[in-house]
Amino acid sequence: MAENADNLPRRTLKHHQLRPGMTIQEITELSFSYATLDAETVRFLKANFKGASGVLIGNSGRETVPIAQVKELDQLEAIVDLPGDLIIAKVALGLPESLYKRGFLEFKVTDSPDAPAAEEPEPEAPAIAVGSDEAKRAYQERLIQVKTFLETVNPALESRDRASNVIEEMMDRGRAGHFSSKGVESAIEEVTGQNLGSAMQAIAGLKNSDQTYAHCVDMSVILQGCYTDLLEQSGKKVDDLVGRLILVSGFMHDIGKSKLPKEIIDSTVAFAPDSKERIILRNHVTYGAQILSDMGMHKAAIDVAHYHHVKKDTSLLASYPDVPFDVVPSMVRFAAVVDVYQALIGRRSYKKNWVPGKAIDYILKRRNSEFDERMVDRFVASMGKYPVVSLIRLNTGDLAYVLMIAPKEHPERPVVSIIENAQGEMITHHEILDLMVEPDIYATEVVDHYEHYNETEDQAFRIFQSIEIS
Ligand SMILES: [Fe+2]
Ligand SMILES: [Fe+2]
Repeated sequence: MAENADNLPRRTLKHHQLRPGMTIQEITELSFSYATLDAETVRFLKANFKGASGVLIGNSGRETVPIAQVKELDQLEAIVDLPGDLIIAKVALGLPESLYKRGFLEFKVTDSPDAPAAEEPEPEAPAIAVGSDEAKRAYQERLIQVKTFLETVNPALESRDRASNVIEEMMDRGRAGHFSSKGVESAIEEVTGQNLGSAMQAIAGLKNSDQTYAHCVDMSVILQGCYTDLLEQSGKKVDDLVGRLILVSGFMHDIGKSKLPKEIIDSTVAFAPDSKERIILRNHVTYGAQILSDMGMHKAAIDVAHYHHVKKDTSLLASYPDVPFDVVPSMVRFAAVVDVYQALIGRRSYKKNWVPGKAIDYILKRRNSEFDERMVDRFVASMGKYPVVSLIRLNTGDLAYVLMIAPKEHPERPVVSIIENAQGEMITHHEILDLMVEPDIYATEVVDHYEHYNETEDQAFRIFQSIEIS
C-alpha cells in the first residue's frame, strides 16, 4: 500500500542531501539528456517507476501521464506521484548516488512519520572561513586552475574566431539552400578536447561580438559552462555527450537567421521594436526549429532554437513565438537567460555593451517578469556576483581583474590579479591574489572596463591578455 503522504511537509533537496528514511515523492529536475527519451531509458523508467507519473512537454504544454504510457522521443520534465512502496522511492544507502548517475538532480521528499524529529537539510558545504588553513589549502588548488585558465586564453581566442567563421559559413551555405552541420563537430571538438570553455567564456566578457556568429559561439560556451557548474556542484563531471549536445544547441540556436536577408542580420543599426525588420527577425525561431528538425538534430537543440525568445510574461513584445511559457523546457529557460546575457555583453555598434557585472544586475531586475526565476538564480550562482574578467575596485583602491569567482558565502572574495594600483599606475609584475586568504582585502565595486580603458583599441582585453603569472 502506498503511504498517505498528503499531509506530510515536502522538502526540496539535491541528491547529496537525501538521507535514509526519507521518501521521494517527486523528481523535480532531470538532466538535459531526458529531453528526448531513448528506448533504454523508457525501459528503465517503466521497470523502476511503476505506478508513478511522468510530466511530459508537448506542443500544448505540460501534461502528466502514467509512466507506463511514456514512450521513445518523449520529452520528460519530471516524475511525480511516486508510490511510497516503490523501492526507488525509499532512500537507502547508495541510492542517492545511483539516482544522480541516472541524471536525477532534484527531489521533493517527505520524512518518515515515525522518524525522530525531522532534521534541517544539511548545508551543501560548510563555509570556509577567510584566512583559515582550509582556505589556504583550497588556494593551492585554485592556483593550478587559474594558471591553466590563463594559459588557454590565446588558443581560446583563435578557436572562437574559427568557430564563428564556421557558423557564418554554415549560415551562408544555408542561405544558398544547403544546410549541414559541417565544421560544427570539429569546432566543438576543439572547445571540449582542449578544455577551452572557461577561457572562451572569459573572452566573451571582454571582446566584441557580432550579433549573430560570435554571439552563437559565446552564448554556447557560457551555456555549457554554467550547466557544467550546476552538475559539478554535486561533485560530478558533466557527461561528455550531454556537454556536446549543449554546445550544439547553443551554436545552432539562431540558425534560423540564415533564412533572413543578410543585410538584416549583419545590420549595425538598431531596429525600432515595431519595425518591419524586427517583425522579420522574429521568424528566425520557427525557421530555426524547422531547419534543425530537417537536419535530424536532437529535440533539445530544436527546442532551444524554437523557444529561446519566449518570456515568462508572454504578453511582452519581446516574447515569441506565441506559445504558453509552459511548453518551454527547463533547459531552454536556462538558455534564454544566457542568450540575453550574451546579447548584453556582446558589442553592438549601435549600442554600448555591458560589462558582465552590470549584465547580471539587468537579468536580476527581470528575474520574475522575463525569466524563470529558478534558472536566473542558478545562472547568477554560476557566474558569481563578480564574474570572471570583471574589473573590480578593491578596498585598497587597487584595480584587479577577476580570474576565478568567489565562494558563494564570500561573494566579495574572488581570485584576482591586480593590474593597476590606487594611484592609477599599471602593474607589470602580476600576481595571483586569492582574497579568501587575504583577510584585509576585498572587492568593493565593479568598474566598467570599457569606460575605464580605451574601447576602440580593445585595451581592456589586451591588458587581460597580458596577465602573465610566473
Ligand atoms: Fe534568437
Ligand atoms: Fe541568440
